[in-house]
Amino acid sequence: MVEVTNLRVNYLDSPIGIEDIFQVGWQMRSDRRSVRQKSYRLQIAENDFASPVYDSGEVMSGDSANITVPVDIPLNSVSAYRIRVKATAEDGDCTPWHESKFVTALLNNSEWRAEFITIETEEDKGDARSSYLNKSIEISSSVKSAYLLSTALGVYHVYINGQKAGDDQMAPGWTSYNKHLLYQIYDVKELLKPGENTLSGFVNAGWYKGKMGFVGLKNHYGTRAAFSCELHLEYENGERCVIRTDGTWQGAWGPVVYSDIYDGELYDARLENTEKWQAVSQAAFDTSVLAAQAGCRVRVHERLPVKEIITTPEGDTVLDFGQNLTGWVEFTVQGNEGDEVRLQCFEVLDSRGNVYLDNLRSAKQKLTYICKDGAQATYHAYFTFQGFRYVKVISWPGGINAKSFTACAVYSNMPVTGSFTCSNPLLNQLQSNIHWGMKGNFLDVPTDCPQRDERLGWTGDAQIFCRTASFLMDTYTFFRKWLRDLAADQTDEGGVPHVVPDILIGKSSSDRIMRDGEHSAAAWADASIIVPWTMYLAYGDKDILRRQYESMKAWLGFMRAHAVDGIWNYKLQFGDWVALDAEEGSYFGATPNDLTCTAYYAYSTGLFAKIARILGRADDAETYGKLYEQIVASYQKHFFDESGRLNVQTQTAQIVTLHFGLAPEAYRKNVADDLIKLLKKENGHLVTGFVGTPYFCFALSENDHTKEAYELLLKEDYPSWLYQVKAGATTIWEHWDGIKPDGTMWSADMNSFNHYAYGAVGDWLYRVAAGIDTAEDGPGYQHILLAPHIGGGLTEVDAKLQSSYGQLRSHWRVSGDVVTLEADIPCNAYATISLPGAAELLDGGGLDFDGFSAKTGSGRYTIRYRL
Ligand code: BGC
Repeated sequence: MVEVTNLRVNYLDSPIGIEDIFQVGWQMRSDRRSVRQKSYRLQIAENDFASPVYDSGEVMSGDSANITVPVDIPLNSVSAYRIRVKATAEDGDCTPWHESKFVTALLNNSEWRAEFITIETEEDKGDARSSYLNKSIEISSSVKSAYLLSTALGVYHVYINGQKAGDDQMAPGWTSYNKHLLYQIYDVKELLKPGENTLSGFVNAGWYKGKMGFVGLKNHYGTRAAFSCELHLEYENGERCVIRTDGTWQGAWGPVVYSDIYDGELYDARLENTEKWQAVSQAAFDTSVLAAQAGCRVRVHERLPVKEIITTPEGDTVLDFGQNLTGWVEFTVQGNEGDEVRLQCFEVLDSRGNVYLDNLRSAKQKLTYICKDGAQATYHAYFTFQGFRYVKVISWPGGINAKSFTACAVYSNMPVTGSFTCSNPLLNQLQSNIHWGMKGNFLDVPTDCPQRDERLGWTGDAQIFCRTASFLMDTYTFFRKWLRDLAADQTDEGGVPHVVPDILIGKSSSDRIMRDGEHSAAAWADASIIVPWTMYLAYGDKDILRRQYESMKAWLGFMRAHAVDGIWNYKLQFGDWVALDAEEGSYFGATPNDLTCTAYYAYSTGLFAKIARILGRADDAETYGKLYEQIVASYQKHFFDESGRLNVQTQTAQIVTLHFGLAPEAYRKNVADDLIKLLKKENGHLVTGFVGTPYFCFALSENDHTKEAYELLLKEDYPSWLYQVKAGATTIWEHWDGIKPDGTMWSADMNSFNHYAYGAVGDWLYRVAAGIDTAEDGPGYQHILLAPHIGGGLTEVDAKLQSSYGQLRSHWRVSGDVVTLEADIPCNAYATISLPGAAELLDGGGLDFDGFSAKTGSGRYTIRYRL
């Protein structure tokens, strides 16, 4: 049996909003081993495959991922298409057709003729009040198809006859709006009825004009929230028409009286249905920057009940949902007119069990709902989200019943692709914390944290975590969108903002740290190269490398222009941010910036040289290949002493030198020995920050110290990953000493309990402990490297990854000194399986082992060996 499944366009399942097809992919499934595709045939049709708009004919190719189609396929805007594929395996077995679909967006932005309309004036620029923009329309004959294209300057919901179109939240998301604004497309045929229908946009300030950033500025992108939409109708009789926002629409203030990303929302139900309709005005906006968002939109995912209602020593009533998350608390309330619900969301209780708000800084995270009559109503925030595990009930009409409240996790819609479980329950909780940290900080942009007055797309955090994230969930579309903003917000000189979308450059002079440099910090700005490269590795996609090529090159140009004698450094550097070897009270770790900057300069240049080679840009490959060698030589000259040891004796210095391959081969062992010494000095604990931590375990296991890597990972006392777990963490903390062993906390000015950065250790769990990796010569897990590292006293590890080719799995069990490894390799992929630490092969599972390494095609293999 062989069949095709999971046919996707642009990495998305049945997407609505395709502007161009840059990728088609499918998977093959079979109950046989070593199945590879010999050829395929792909067709696209508007109605009937008898007259397809595209027919590839039989293509002799083993490729089933990242298939490109000609750019000139004659597609129409806002139209539904069918797409199907069938394949022939190498043994001649042929699959049936497998079909999927997609809907196009506007193929040219000049087609967007809807106005951006608003009732706000300049006087409302500081407000964050909701407004409705409405139009009554007549549907005269039966509708064949109806697509609503909508967006806003602000955050919006759109309704037809009072029913919400789609289930997106926080649309249109956060982008560098004036350079890149997303619109969403909804199939709304089912919401329309014959006769009169009401179209209604509901908008508020959001990221567009609300308060954003720790400096507390508003109006980053504009002063008036506005709405724009086009309803594309096709009637059964073949007639087509488009209804657009324009001056004939009417507007009115809505019941959300105030909504702010940081502070929360105030909803006055008494204002419902009391609208005083008024004329709208037009807000100027350059529609050439529009782009359709075909997937990865923000949705509600998990819904968690109250785990416990607590009365704190100070007498507060607190709902505990048992999980730190990002989203909102939904509640059902019955109160008399004017009764108030007042809630405050927060992350942790203090050492005495009281409500702890200090780490929110200026963010209020409060929700107020004013009841209108005795009727029951259900509400959650419309235009904001909070980071919380606990909710303090400040005011509630009547007795509090746990069943009235639900915590809703809100984040970008990314299919879960990876899982990791093992025999150590603490590690399993760490894995859960890593995944929840990801969910909490992948709300349209990769943020540092979801609770305090920040929630910004810090480039460093994203860079550190993106490989881990790409194992856990399908992040391709998420990062592709974000990288477009990164490129758009680069400085003229190629500098990369600290946060993307950028709201700091030119606006941070009042901040005591940022005023020293508003962009271009090592490890942060390198996201411009490392994130696309990671996408390439995880998904095998060259298109993202092509798209980001100039952005990457510009960033290298920036570093080159500011490097002296091969050593790079520039204004404000975060260095090994929040490392424990910092001076008391400082955020800046002990490893000098010259070293961290130059290490990243080398690393990024090396990656770029590879990327140039992959894209066939021979000149750049050569130029940057040479530059890379020069930087490495400078690094070695500056940071190695005559005895072949680094002249910077910090854990992080050794780690980046080892992991980035910057030590002369003859000195590598010295550096690894020094790392062990530095680890011993701390009693086996890490003192590393953002730069050193993600690679610590790698630097050890890549240098014959897998045992020490496991010991570090499994440390349970402070400071360590599992210390947090044992302290009851349900997400990853920003600081190792977020809560210290004596119950006191790191300074409230920077103490998030939901910061994914240190969750980057997940990458080591998946790639080394479970041993699932991709080879660069077959990225996207086409060539799988399966090399489980047994250790840490674990008796079982089970990891699965849904790759572009299908599910792969590494499952190992240890009994005495015998390991049983079960490996699943999907069709069209191939693997090199190796068995680090093996002493004797007991059963090769039918594979042809050469020593402890075997090459194989698809299938399930059970291998037994002795350690
Ligand atoms: C953020 C970090 C970020 C850092 C850079 C902090 O405020 O929360 O995660 O990378 O600033 O300095």
